[in-house]
Amino acid sequence: MIKRNAFDLIAKYGSPLYVYDQRILRQRCKDISAFANALSFGLPDDVKVQMHYSTKANNNPAILKIVKQEGLSVECMSPFEFFINKKLGFPNNKILYVCNNITSDEMRIVANNDVLICLDSISQVKTFGESFPNSKIMVRINPGSHGVGHSEKVITAGKQTKFGISEANISELIITAKSYGLKIIGIHQHLGSLFLNDKIDEYIEGVKAGLEIAEKYFPEIEVIDLGGGFGVPYNTKKEKPLDLYFLVGKLLPILNKFLEKNKNVKELKFEPGRYIPCEAGILLGTVTATKKENGIFWVGTDIGMNQLVRPSMYGSYHDIRIISRTFGNCFEDVKVNICGNVCESGDILAKDRIISLPKYVGTDVGDIISVYNAGAYGYSMASNYTGRPRPAEIMLLGNGCEQIIRKREDIMDLCHNFVWENI
Ligand SMILES: Cc1ncc(COP(=O)(O)O)c(C=O)c1O
Repeated sequence: MIKRNAFDLIAKYGSPLYVYDQRILRQRCKDISAFANALSFGLPDDVKVQMHYSTKANNNPAILKIVKQEGLSVECMSPFEFFINKKLGFPNNKILYVCNNITSDEMRIVANNDVLICLDSISQVKTFGESFPNSKIMVRINPGSHGVGHSEKVITAGKQTKFGISEANISELIITAKSYGLKIIGIHQHLGSLFLNDKIDEYIEGVKAGLEIAEKYFPEIEVIDLGGGFGVPYNTKKEKPLDLYFLVGKLLPILNKFLEKNKNVKELKFEPGRYIPCEAGILLGTVTATKKENGIFWVGTDIGMNQLVRPSMYGSYHDIRIISRTFGNCFEDVKVNICGNVCESGDILAKDRIISLPKYVGTDVGDIISVYNAGAYGYSMASNYTGRPRPAEIMLLGNGCEQIIRKREDIMDLCHNFVWENI
């Protein structure tokens, strides 16, 4: 482990490359714990607040190990995420399985480990009840019209979403659960992914709506889970960081009012995903081509939608910088389109983006491109589309050294499951 810069890192680990900074990651864990502490301070003494990091945001075990060291719990939604968290030694009561549309075999993995499962339809409650009657479960409700998220695709409450059980179906849910002897000990809702300060009021409306449903139909529950969604600013020139203490101030009165009447509730859970690793990660890549066509300056890179899908999937904005090989220190703003190497017109990282480039030289093949806030839903959503291996991931340790935490795939990794003798 030796001190390296972006060019050295790419030379050593290949391009593209996911790079995480352990210090930022730990800081974000501490910030979210501070949120939990501030909240518990204002709640009745016997009510515990548990923060479950949502594994789907970034499932690298090195990230999860830090999450564990920092005292957070985890939420997972697939056997892989469950396996990694178990392997890292998270105790069962610190793991929560929040799933949708899974098989009874998958449910068995969770139930056999005595981990709490959160089910999101009456049909799933039946499937679970048939195999594991007389167990404790949580259920995911849909509070109706209060989804919040950065894109339609990640708004997970409201009438158009596949998630949760709406108020109209709750009576049937309760009868179904009872018929299998299932005890609903908690209510879950997740309104969507990524809200910032300007959406806190909408988030609070959603929380109120969920608590109203909990109070009306579930007088015996012990747990309320308000999901994730805690946002980070992607466009750092325009957006401000989420003010967690302001959020605490908004949550406390409504939570206390609810807890006053619902004395059985002894635990509040949240499931922040993005907030923890997002700002700790950048994606480094290489400029592989440049061209001017029809008045547009195109910067071609090796960061395709298969390495980072957020821009093409959601139209998401990421701050981007180009690190030039020139030593020139005079810069000018240039409007560019930055794109990847996949044969799809949607394979665009940034459109009409003003980038600061060295005067006279601009950018050229071999420069490095850095995409910020790539630590969440970056690698975990990456794919092998067009048969490209996924990048390596490394962790900067804070002392000028780095550690590799996932090897770069090679072409043979992609061939593992071919049955050559049948081809
Ligand atoms: C049930 C559930 N909980 C938590 C999260 C994490 O959301 P975020 O990363 O926005 O905090 C998600 C994300 O989709 C989710 O579906």
